Amino acid sequence: MPVDLKATLIDPADPTYKPLLDNLQGNIIKAHGRMHTASLFLRFTGTPAVVKKWISDFARQYVTSTSAQIEQAKKYRNGKDGGIFGNFFLTALGYQNSQLGIMPRDRQASFNAGMKNVRIQDRLGDPPVEQWESGFQQDIHALAFLADDNEARLKAACDTVTASLNGVATVLTKEHGVRWLNDKEEDIEPFGYRDGVSQPVFLKGSTESPGETRWDPSASLELVLVEDPNVPGRDCYGSFLVFRKLEQDVRKFNEQVSRLAQALGTTADLAGAYVVGRFKDGTPVTLSDKPGTIEPRQHIDFDYEQDTEGARCPFHAHIRKTNPRGDTGRLAQPGIPLEQERRHRIARRGQPYGNPNGGAAGLLFLCFQSDISLQFEFIQSSWANGIHFVKMNGGLDGVIGQGTQVPDGPLWCKTYGSLDETIGFDFSDVIKLKGGDYFFAPSVAFLQGLG
Ligand code: HEM
Repeated sequence: MPVDLKATLIDPADPTYKPLLDNLQGNIIKAHGRMHTASLFLRFTGTPAVVKKWISDFARQYVTSTSAQIEQAKKYRNGKDGGIFGNFFLTALGYQNSQLGIMPRDRQASFNAGMKNVRIQDRLGDPPVEQWESGFQQDIHALAFLADDNEARLKAACDTVTASLNGVATVLTKEHGVRWLNDKEEDIEPFGYRDGVSQPVFLKGSTESPGETRWDPSASLELVLVEDPNVPGRDCYGSFLVFRKLEQDVRKFNEQVSRLAQALGTTADLAGAYVVGRFKDGTPVTLSDKPGTIEPRQHIDFDYEQDTEGARCPFHAHIRKTNPRGDTGRLAQPGIPLEQERRHRIARRGQPYGNPNGGAAGLLFLCFQSDISLQFEFIQSSWANGIHFVKMNGGLDGVIGQGTQVPDGPLWCKTYGSLDETIGFDFSDVIKLKGGDYFFAPSVAFLQGLG
């Protein structure tokens, strides 16, 4: 019997889910957690038969199922080496070029169009493809993804895979991701803020769910999974992946934070928290005007019901834009049920690139979903770029908003929690898209069966 995709917080030990977890690629419903990653963007050059055989071999050797990932994580928790982790993703062009089977379709066919499509570029407000890095400007067919805590082992595996591609595919570009950690060993992104704090949670035991009062992070499988059309009726699922290389202008971000702090007569800590919606340590600014003042549980368990004027967390703060936690029904479109807003959520699995000590840096942004148009594209276009979301003239998302800003910039409160005095300030343009594409993560059974 097929599994019920409406199930939330599934127990991976429940035999009902075994076929699904054995056939689902890892990193979709739970992050792989490795320190280093390598992403090889490929264009197939071999015949379909040669390409299929290579994919099947790669899948057998490297692609990690969710079941295997869970086992690796147990080993890791017992102090052992989790080993190498691998994924394989295909674009619509990849399916077509090598006649790999039935193409997965999402609701608005965004996957089939790809991220370079002009309609999609327009919707997202993206810079023209000619401004992307050259490797990403070309037709991408696939992404071979490897991750390991051991950097030398990862490099060796990458070299082996690259050599095996002779006569099969060209490596268009190679991206290296690395986790950046703060002094408490928590993940941060290049602007210095904790990242990966708030996520949809699919597995039982991975959340402190009892005792939630304001925000339920649990999510049903259908938020990210769709049936693999090439292996119907066998509990073989896949997921759509959005990959974006987002360069972060750290100097400009810090300069703008200082100028905003000066204009407000406040600290850079609080000004930065207004932009992101959290302090660097993850404290949500809607709950406190100082970092380190609340229990860790509350970093996830909060909403904006006590902040309906945006006097503590601005409406244009990054985390309020990208997960409004009920603002849609409360303020933007009264009557819209919370569940409808929650359907736009994504599973973020990105990692920084570059060096914390200087040079170009940013995020290799990855997110999984079952519908690219309804999830990633909706968040970017309707919320982050939507200057009238949550309210008229609210402004662009200060971190990722693209497009025309409101005249004189959005409003910021001079005193935390009070709307008595506000100033206009245009905080924008701190990240730049360098390339990316839309992929599908087919089931392990499909990939292995190609050979
Ligand atoms: C949360 C930074 C791109 C969607 C966050 C957080 C930070 C952050 C610091 C808070 C930590 C957390 O709640 O996990 C960035 C940076 C980006 C970027 C620096 C670009 C370089 C994006 C993009 C999207 C996005 C492109 C989607 C279109 C989200 C979502 C959350 C989040 C959904 C969680 C909000 C919540 O549940 O409260 N991001 N982000 N981010 N970001 Fe981003």
